[in-house]
Amino acid sequence: MNILLTGGAGYIGSHTAVELIEDGHAVVILDNLVNSHHEAVRRVERITGRSVPLVEGDCTDGALVRRILVDHGIDAVMHLAGLKAVGESTEQPLRYYRTNLTALLTLCEAAHEQGVRRLVFSSSATVYGDPETVPITETAPLTATNPYGATKLFGERILTDLAAADPSWRVALLRYFNPIGAHESGLIGEDPNDVPNNLFPYISKVAAGTFDKLSVFGDDYDTPDGTGVRDYLHVTDLARGHVAALDHLDGRRGARVYNLGTGWGTSVLEAVAAFERACGTPIPYVVVGRRAGDIATCYADPSRANAELGWQARKTVAEACVDAWRWQSANPNGYRDA
Ligand code: WQD
Repeated sequence: MNILLTGGAGYIGSHTAVELIEDGHAVVILDNLVNSHHEAVRRVERITGRSVPLVEGDCTDGALVRRILVDHGIDAVMHLAGLKAVGESTEQPLRYYRTNLTALLTLCEAAHEQGVRRLVFSSSATVYGDPETVPITETAPLTATNPYGATKLFGERILTDLAAADPSWRVALLRYFNPIGAHESGLIGEDPNDVPNNLFPYISKVAAGTFDKLSVFGDDYDTPDGTGVRDYLHVTDLARGHVAALDHLDGRRGARVYNLGTGWGTSVLEAVAAFERACGTPIPYVVVGRRAGDIATCYADPSRANAELGWQARKTVAEACVDAWRWQSANPNGYRDA
């Protein structure tokens, strides 16, 4: 199929582009490059040997989206573009609601007008808030603990209502757990604009000597070693989950939610140890106070995606650390050296 991949120059988007192309799809990327780099798309072309048109623009530009849908004969939309920093969203709620929700509504209206009725939506495990039980199933209670998470929750509701009103829509809502690692080639990877908020890119920068130590946000949680436990999923497995969702869209009407996680929890200290083994150097750290809004434990029950999509994570955290270190070592300044 011809796929419009929004946010395809980003971390998850570029890895998803690779897997879509290797599964036989043609990909057109729409990205405003606010939090990504055009070089990532060039690297996707190097990995796949295929041309990947990059349209630099915004999903909120309805005329542009309509033009892409028509010019490229788009069969399905994979919507990954959006603002995604939890802390920033609490400081700039209106920007997050306007950007993330207007983009989704614009895409849906343009797709509807052009007869495109297939959509895969990037959602997040953040919609579960602080789960009552783990592993987390798709039927767990939902809550929004920050504006970013609210845009994901509202996005899911918008698409669920759209598909209920018009059964010709086929929608997959993918709740990502914690993506880590990089493509095995070392050509694409995570390239945060400034100081990373997330654990793995920060550890990677400590290993590279950019930062002198990691701050561990609390070791007094009710977890085996007291540090936060998360479901870290190799980004290539996550990307393959998008392909699996797309390939199964036509088999089911309406909107369907899927957890994309390994089903396994890893603590902060276990993550540090795994990265030390991958990079061969110690990762200095200091334990500090908890980060506001953090929860103790979050990991998926991925059995629905396994049963209905034939998808499960195959790569380990250890492999993700090796792949992340290969990317970091080969690209100390991310795509900026390109
Ligand atoms: C993981 C663990 C921290 C940094 C976030 C978003 C979520 C999703 C994924 C978009 C926690 C600890 C972290 C550090 C640390 N993003 N940590 N020192 O918070 O689970 O999820 O990213 O969808 O929406 O909330 O990921 O990597 O920030 O934190 O100790 O410098 O690492 O306390 O236990 P998180 P994270």
